[in-house]
Amino acid sequence: MDEAALQQALTDTQNLGEMPDADAVGTVGSPDCGDMVRMWIKYKEKDGKKVIDKASFQSFGCQTAIAVASIATELIRGKTKEEALSLSAEELSKPLGPLPPMKIHCGQMVEGALRAALEAEKKPEGLSEPVVAADQSGTLADALTAAGKTQGKIKIVLTSQ
Ligand code: FES
Repeated sequence: MDEAALQQALTDTQNLGEMPDADAVGTVGSPDCGDMVRMWIKYKEKDGKKVIDKASFQSFGCQTAIAVASIATELIRGKTKEEALSLSAEELSKPLGPLPPMKIHCGQMVEGALRAALEAEKKPEGLSEPVVAADQSGTLADALTAAGKTQGKIKIVLTSQ
């Protein structure tokens, strides 16, 4: 992994935070380390196609996961749902160089959150209300609080995938 690229991505972290008007949201937790990423997506119409207008994320994860999520939210702008679904964890983390074996799951977790958000969006034609699963409304911190804290430990609940 390119350490300088990682530090640069962290310094320039993009699209961090909840998106209240999102069309879809997806959350994935990594069984490898207990980290989590939540991703929000907003679509728009462009040249007769539905494309991703913007995306944002929250992460209780390591620096690699944060950097990949930031890169991913920029990379998918303007892409169709199908184009975004075709992106692999390797492609999402490409600017950081090849991830070491112990960090591969970080990119996969971001890919999982992206897929969960892309697949969560099942808005039928003509329906203007965003389709957001009830258990994924609010911030990732809300979800962790709702999941319950036991004697100072946070219980991680997989909410998708
Ligand atoms: S997301 Fe688990 S160590 Fe990076």
